[in-house]
Amino acid sequence: MYPHRCHRYRNKSGLGEESESVSTIGTGKQKRPAADNPVMTASGTFGYGMEYEHLFDIQKLGAIVCKGTAHESWEGNPQPRIAETDNGMLNSIGLQGIGVDALIKEKTPVWAGWQVPVIVNIVGRTVEDYTEVARKLDNVPACRVRAQYQLPQRQGRRGGIRGQSGTAGKVTAAVRKATTLPIIVKLTPNTGEIVRIAQAAAAAGADALCLINTVKGMAINIKTRKPLLGNTYGGLSGPAIKPVALYMVYQVFKAVNIPIVGCGGITNAHDAIEFFMAGATAIEVGTASFMIRARRWMCWKGLESTCRKTRLTICAK
Ligand SMILES: Cc1cc2nc3c(=O)[nH]c(=O)nc-3n(C[C@H](O)[C@H](O)[C@H](O)COP(=O)(O)O)c2cc1C
Repeated sequence: MYPHRCHRYRNKSGLGEESESVSTIGTGKQKRPAADNPVMTASGTFGYGMEYEHLFDIQKLGAIVCKGTAHESWEGNPQPRIAETDNGMLNSIGLQGIGVDALIKEKTPVWAGWQVPVIVNIVGRTVEDYTEVARKLDNVPACRVRAQYQLPQRQGRRGGIRGQSGTAGKVTAAVRKATTLPIIVKLTPNTGEIVRIAQAAAAAGADALCLINTVKGMAINIKTRKPLLGNTYGGLSGPAIKPVALYMVYQVFKAVNIPIVGCGGITNAHDAIEFFMAGATAIEVGTASFMIRARRWMCWKGLESTCRKTRLTICAK
């Protein structure tokens, strides 16, 4: 898990009643000191990590999850790709990325010198896309790379795949075979069957789950009568989705026995603790990481003191 040693904060019957150890997920290939910070960055909101290096001490984070990475470079969606909403933001970046070969060549040598682990978020349109990227990452000497992938949500006209529970099992099992790296499966909230998808991913060999991704939404400029996003619709993130994310973490926690990384609208240490109490072992911060005040508590100190105030035991030494 990221961090390597952490605790479950909730037992199956109650909220934050006691902490129980979750064993480390390691590859056997990798050695790094156990991180105590359960805070990671959310994919797509923190670039490849380097972009933030001059702003704060990113080495104090639990892990950095980099942008979605496909088997080839993806251009992403038409502009505009970002729109502000009440209590959140809409994005339709469309998984723009440099592709796995460029990532291995340009980014992993830098990551190899970092203390903070970097998790690569794999994206694809077919099962083969996923396995190709996973296979390539498996051999990367910058051994802090781990694979997190999000399940595809769309049916491609030419044989693409769907983010439903059958597919979840199929993609997870294929990626499991392709890599020895730990796998975190990222779940979309845009489904009526998140619990079944979570169970299928767990049964097929996922080491952990991350939830949630953005919630589908749109906004319209009433003067131009056109959608604000070039792609018409996009994904809503930020504080507006926190109750949805929290509920889904709570539901999934009751149904699976693998660690959960909570994500969605987490803006301050108080929000983070709510996620731990709902069943998350670690958390990811996305939209709020653009805010200076969030970056302070993300480096653990602020969260640690809030945990102490709520008498929450957190992270083994
Ligand atoms: C600009 C932007 C780009 C994102 N890109 C990705 C991505 O490439 N892969 C992914 O799994 N999630 C992506 N996400 C979703 C986030 O990782 C996260 O799941 C979501 O934003 C909810 O967390 P938040 O409310 O803290 O932002 C993106 C979110 C934003 C705002």
